[in-house]
Amino acid sequence: MLARAGARAHRIAASRVLLVAGLTCEFRVAHHRTRLVSLHYGFVTAADGPRRKSVTQLCETSLHRKRSNGNVVISVQGLRKEFPGRVVVRDVSLTIDKPAMIGIVGRSGAGKSTLLRLLNRLTVATRGSVVVEGRDVLKLTGEAKRSWQRNCAMIFQQFNLVPRLDVLTNVLLGTLNSRSLLPSLLKMFPQMERAQALQALDRLGIADIALQRAESLSGGQQQRVAIARALMQSPKIVLADEPIASLDPMNAKIVMDALRSIHDRDGITVITNLHTLDTARHYCDRVIGMRDGALVFDGVASELSEAAARDIYGAGKDFTEAMTSVSLDPRREVSRSVDGAAAVAN
Ligand SMILES: Nc1ncnc2c1ncn2[C@@H]1O[C@H](COP(=O)(O)OP(=O)(O)OP(=O)(O)O)[C@@H](O)[C@H]1O
Ligand SMILES: [Mg+2]
Repeated sequence: MLARAGARAHRIAASRVLLVAGLTCEFRVAHHRTRLVSLHYGFVTAADGPRRKSVTQLCETSLHRKRSNGNVVISVQGLRKEFPGRVVVRDVSLTIDKPAMIGIVGRSGAGKSTLLRLLNRLTVATRGSVVVEGRDVLKLTGEAKRSWQRNCAMIFQQFNLVPRLDVLTNVLLGTLNSRSLLPSLLKMFPQMERAQALQALDRLGIADIALQRAESLSGGQQQRVAIARALMQSPKIVLADEPIASLDPMNAKIVMDALRSIHDRDGITVITNLHTLDTARHYCDRVIGMRDGALVFDGVASELSEAAARDIYGAGKDFTEAMTSVSLDPRREVSRSVDGAAAVAN
């Protein structure tokens, strides 16, 4: 009886907390919004105005900090993930000793997403180690674990934005892990961070939609917002899980260009799961092939022969690379081979 009453009180308290959090999310502080708008237009339209200058100076400081994040050595040894009755990632070992753009390819169910989730600690490894800067990040707990998760930003196929919040706030939520919850719920972000968020959006060519709700954007725009949000974490490594799988070829190209530029300009390691071999070849310096949870190919893109691709996809002699392909050239018709892709994916 007492236990039931206790559980009920607990449920009521929990629902109140959720209600307050929900209301707070929707609560727009007029003063804050006015400043946001003036900062936004100062940054985007008054190219030579004093506001732009100060914002740019603020952002240069933050970018300098980001560039120095690049040179991170990651050593993965014997990484394994088992679910009841099956092995999903099979003793994977690999070393990343300099900033790189890495594509992971393999047929559906090969374990690509699980591998990224293991690196980010979104799922618990059965065994193995991931040593970064001398520490096994799989052993970190509490604040140290959260700090690692901040350092490896995740980008997902489904963007994971808050639909009813504006773009700028969504980007600013990238700093959520590094601050207490209440100021974020009240949208009380320091001017420096708002400037950084705008610069990240500007860099991705979407500063002009900073005040639009996320739900009103196209898929390509949403994915660019998600990338800007990832940049706000000042990550040491970016993990992108099928970032272009739901996009049309033109938006896929814009998003892949943006990821490549994060690597080229900021020297950050980007690891991205991709369904199409031509995208991996075109954008990645290094390609990792997975099959049944095991790493079966690890080399530069030019070493990825048709035979190696056949091995990764477990396909027969009739396999061609086009079977995995969706053209990224917006002028050409989408060239997915429906039958072939189905044969590879199933
Ligand atoms: N929580 C879970 N419990 C049981 N099995 C799981 C779980 N998560 C993933 N799996 C299984 O692990 C295997 C690998 O899944 P994963 O999502 O890593 O593959 P993937 O290579 O990313 O596939 P896709 O290309 O379709 O995204 C799949 O067979 C999947 O069903
Ligand atoms: Mg996946």
